[in-house]
Amino acid sequence: MTQAMKIAIVDDEQDMRQSISQWLALSGYDTETFGSAEDALKILGPDYPGIVISDIKMPGMDGMQFLKKLMGNDSALPVIMITGHGDVPMAVEAMRVGAFDFLEKPFNPDRMNELAKKATGARRLVMDNRALRRELSDGGQLMKKLIGQSPVMERLREDILDLGQADGHVLIDGETGTGKTLVAHALHAVGSRAGKKFVLISCGAYEEEALSKRLFGPMNPEDAQLPAIEEARGGTLVLEDIEALTETLQARLLSVINEQGAPAETRIVGISNLQEAGRTSEDALRPDLFYRLAALRIIVPPLRQRGEDILTLFTRLSEQFADEYGCDAPQVSAQEAAQLLQAPWPGNVRQLINVAERAVLQSRRGSGTIASLLMNDHEDMQPVMTTEGKPLKEYVEAFERMLIDNTMRRHRGSIASVMDELCLPRRTLNEKMAKYGLQRSDYL
Ligand SMILES: Nc1ncnc2c1ncn2[C@@H]1O[C@H](COP(=O)(O)OP(=O)(O)OP(=O)(O)O)[C@@H](O)[C@H]1O
Ligand SMILES: [Mg+2]
Repeated sequence: MTQAMKIAIVDDEQDMRQSISQWLALSGYDTETFGSAEDALKILGPDYPGIVISDIKMPGMDGMQFLKKLMGNDSALPVIMITGHGDVPMAVEAMRVGAFDFLEKPFNPDRMNELAKKATGARRLVMDNRALRRELSDGGQLMKKLIGQSPVMERLREDILDLGQADGHVLIDGETGTGKTLVAHALHAVGSRAGKKFVLISCGAYEEEALSKRLFGPMNPEDAQLPAIEEARGGTLVLEDIEALTETLQARLLSVINEQGAPAETRIVGISNLQEAGRTSEDALRPDLFYRLAALRIIVPPLRQRGEDILTLFTRLSEQFADEYGCDAPQVSAQEAAQLLQAPWPGNVRQLINVAERAVLQSRRGSGTIASLLMNDHEDMQPVMTTEGKPLKEYVEAFERMLIDNTMRRHRGSIASVMDELCLPRRTLNEKMAKYGLQRSDYL
């Protein structure tokens, strides 16, 4: 969802700012005009979602002082200065202070459009980057990305918060698609290393020699990149598919860990896949390395073991996709809910994301069933079920929670409407919401 970039036009001459504004508005920009630098500074904070076009000659604060102030607030803000015809020294000075570019009077509308396009493009990149960095360093945001309120997920969140603050190395184990990489990001983001480097290496993606170089160096002198262990210094180094490390590389890693001493300067987070039955990271790593890493251990449980989360994840994710595709999220019937709960989910959350997206596309087309998305090619027309049974209570509760959640959402938190639709007395509704951790304020 890209929002139109703004353009602030600052000029003491009304005709001038009006005509610039009209011209740019015609090209689809969201413009705002100011008669003085002083007025503009009241609005132009450090994260202004756009660019500035300003005259240089103005009574009161002139354009050059204005530019210096703006650069002091946010040196990445593109500012285009309007200079008098032939005023080269002024233009040079403006560029030196940090102007994005300058426009000579009388202007050429095409050149103005072209500059505005370049400057807003540059600004958008900066803003996107800042948003991403904020999300990554704002552990809270990342933690919110971890959907689910099953007891295991609650435990997982607490573990992340605890281990994020602790100093040791970490080993994360779990089946494919359970959220191991997301957990590694969250661990970094909530901890004391949050502002530091986060380097992630997929060990399985390299041949031994290349991996050795990527991790420990030496890199070629012409390589711009540092070896990962240097690059991550003071921060977090995540080693995905750590079981892919050969004996030699495991020994090398162990000696690096030992050299660091305690507390470790760089936190190492090993991620290993518990896919193959019976084989764990304990079998794959040499014992001394395993114990160094597994002092702090996180096991991310497979989706089939967090029944309550399945429907919550499905609802949330299909809402997100529905939003993206501009349609309504599919309504889940009791039968479909049971099928979602009974599916084995070998691809875990990643598979569920996929099913949710396809369910949204199906419902937009008005054809297909959720069951068909869960079919296994080999067994015709029978949705695949787990053999692990679940107590009836779990199905009933998961379904009840989903119904209340959906109804609250549809009625934007209007308790009276929900009571009416679900034929529930207020007290029962309140009790159930408390039981399922649903809060009215989330729906308003
Ligand atoms: N609890 C969760 N809530 C919301 N999204 C989640 C959750 N867990 C995982 N995801 C999402 O599911 C997808 C798969 O997660 P992730 O890549 O972290 O899994 P993984 O265990 O690292 O998989 P792999 O073993 O393939 O590396 C990602 O898009 C991730 O954002
Ligand atoms: Mg991963």
